[in-house]
Amino acid sequence: MIQLTFDGKQDSLIQEIGGIAAGQIENKKQIGEWQQISSDRFTKVDQLNLEQNYIFKGDNLPLLYSLNHVLKGKLKLIYIDPPYNTGKTFFGYTDSMPHDEWLQFMKNRLEIARELLHEAGTIFISIDINEMAYLKIMCDEIFGRSNFVGEIIWETASDNNATQISNQHEYVLCYAKDRSNLGKWKVRSEKANHIIKKYEEIKKEVGNEYPSAIQKALRAWINGMKKSKEIDLSGVSHYSYVDKIGVFYPGNSANTRLGGYDMDLLHPVTGKACKKPLNGYRWPAKTFWAADKRGDVLWPADENGIPKIKKRVDTATELLKGYHYEDNRRSTKTLTKMLGEKKFHNPKSLNLLQKIIRFASEPDDLILDFFGGSGSTAHAVINVNNEDGSNRKFILIEKMDFAEKVIIPRIQQVMSGEVIIFAKLQEDQKGVVPEFEKGKEKLTDQFYSL
Ligand SMILES: C[S@@+](CC[C@H](N)C(=O)[O-])C[C@H]1O[C@@H](n2cnc3c(N)ncnc32)[C@H](O)[C@@H]1O
Repeated sequence: MIQLTFDGKQDSLIQEIGGIAAGQIENKKQIGEWQQISSDRFTKVDQLNLEQNYIFKGDNLPLLYSLNHVLKGKLKLIYIDPPYNTGKTFFGYTDSMPHDEWLQFMKNRLEIARELLHEAGTIFISIDINEMAYLKIMCDEIFGRSNFVGEIIWETASDNNATQISNQHEYVLCYAKDRSNLGKWKVRSEKANHIIKKYEEIKKEVGNEYPSAIQKALRAWINGMKKSKEIDLSGVSHYSYVDKIGVFYPGNSANTRLGGYDMDLLHPVTGKACKKPLNGYRWPAKTFWAADKRGDVLWPADENGIPKIKKRVDTATELLKGYHYEDNRRSTKTLTKMLGEKKFHNPKSLNLLQKIIRFASEPDDLILDFFGGSGSTAHAVINVNNEDGSNRKFILIEKMDFAEKVIIPRIQQVMSGEVIIFAKLQEDQKGVVPEFEKGKEKLTDQFYSL
């Protein structure tokens, strides 16, 4: 097996936190100052459970080990956006470590993150060109090369200060705990949702009794969008037929190769057998009749045509693509507007995070981000829940004051009824601390007995 070598790899924990702390890393940590956040204040917490959302302030290494007492093997999705080691400083955070140290830092955290993952869980890691190649090899080692799920290339704003090659993209690597446990990732098409929304608007205006008038207006809108490119409808613009049930396109019922189903489908008006496709039908008769019952067969005017099955727009699905285009300057602007001033550099795109969450987690899953930053992952989880009525929960860890100054005020503006708990790794016990006395910290006990 090919391995990455770097200084301090064998004893990376000791290198980062010293021998004593490394020896105690498995111990539970003192977490205190538990508070519940509501949209305009903090309240007392008297109960902790995994139906709640958590924001922890503190170094993620001891916190991850501590969380592992509660959440080992439970997380379906981890998203992280670690420091890219760019050499720059943003709002008090210096993103610059010697290369070996950065590798130790990442190894220490990815190893424990893997333990937290569910057998059918995945981790998504944002990274740019500075460390991408090294991170990929390190992840192959930690998660296993066969558990590499794929990579998303995110094309964002261009780097105008480049001297030779102007980079316009970064990456999101995805690894599974065990790829063989992953099902097919397919979600309802976002693009199709635009068509549904427009259809609903037109229906309201025109009235449901006139599907052909709705169809005419919908087609005019779709053609307009194709020309103006204002909304990308590529791959779904053929959903341009309307009946009393909704929007559809007539699926071709002919088998692509010889040997399809040979059957007589009697035309509902003439009572005669309809024309058959040359290679036979691609579906058996019972599929047709079941579709007919739902109003999903498009019968020809008489028996001289071939009946088709209507494919409804709300069944259109899409796959998670390895390419995402979005100029991220918009994310910074939106966050700055929310907070009244610029307090964070380059928060991640909510659209991209929401996409990852929709594909790689289920409606009740708990999602961890241990490089919380400005709280984009929490915001994205809340948005996805609002969008589809799901009940995903988040845990965020952030060591800097961004926790109180950015994440909390941001989330307070978008929360609606979620229970969100804020707590801190105790400062005076920096890094790893011995197991606290039982009963001393009631809430912490509760947390560990979850
Ligand atoms: C690139 S930013 C994450 C941005 C975030 N995805 C967003 O959209 O706002 C990385 C964050 O990790 C935090 N961080 C760095 N080292 C950490 C550590 N050891 N424990 C916890 N947080 C850490 C930094 O303070 C910074 O806010």
